[in-house]
Amino acid sequence: MNAKISVSNRAGASFPVRRMNFDFNDVPEYWVSGSPGLTHFMTALSALFPAGERYFIDSVRAVRDHPSIKDNEALQKEIRAFIGQEAMHTHEHIAFNASAQRYGHDVDTLDRYTNTIIQFARKYGAKAFKPFGVDPKMLDLLGTTALEHFTATIASQLLKNEHIQALMTDETMATMWYWHAIEENEHKAVAFDVFEGVFGKGPKAYIARTSSLIFYMVALFGVQNTFLVFLLAKDKQLNTRALKDIYTYAYSPSKGIITGMYKEMLEYFKFDFHPNDLDTNALLDHWKQKLGF
Ligand SMILES: [Fe+2]
Ligand SMILES: [Fe+2]
Repeated sequence: MNAKISVSNRAGASFPVRRMNFDFNDVPEYWVSGSPGLTHFMTALSALFPAGERYFIDSVRAVRDHPSIKDNEALQKEIRAFIGQEAMHTHEHIAFNASAQRYGHDVDTLDRYTNTIIQFARKYGAKAFKPFGVDPKMLDLLGTTALEHFTATIASQLLKNEHIQALMTDETMATMWYWHAIEENEHKAVAFDVFEGVFGKGPKAYIARTSSLIFYMVALFGVQNTFLVFLLAKDKQLNTRALKDIYTYAYSPSKGIITGMYKEMLEYFKFDFHPNDLDTNALLDHWKQKLGF
């Protein structure tokens, strides 16, 4: 594997922070088994991460000193490790995005768009939800909690879906995505616990978190698909082969990673849902052993 791993658990949390330092120099242009469609699908996702994960970090950081969780030492340790893991993900996705840029795939522009879209949504969301008593910090945390459910779910699907794994033919890229997928599941409860700690578990919190999941999923798929079309069109790869690959491995009932997510995504609508109800411990143990973590 093309990475120098160092592991730290200074936060004393239930999961560590791993610094990976991947070297993306030898990653081929179409690293998902030679498929431009699937490679751009993953690149369109990767383009969302630097700005997206900074937004997650800022959202949690903004409320970590709230009186209702300030003295919860266990949760504070988890928050520190969560920030550490997300910061490392941002770091590695920036490095990968730069390596895609080398091939002429304009991920820099998409990264800037992601940040613009997030800041636009924050600004107008704050105005729109003010009359309902939802302040900007709550809105940010709602977005983070919803999107963390999405990332944990797509991550566990990646660790389960053997059709996709068979296509991850470049070892560096495969390891980067599996590492990220493991950590998304290790820290999947942190934003949720912060949200419940600050805003409680009542009907108002339930309506806010479930309606925000619907809103953020529509926004996320809209943006990711727009980015995908942008990458394919600029690369002159917007053709039936690319679309067929994307349909088969993302959206088909038998092999699709996105279609595989729906059951776990819907769990979020249970009134007493908690991310750890979706037990991924055995799955993570298997993968951590496989990657030598
Ligand atoms: Fe992440
Ligand atoms: Fe995350």
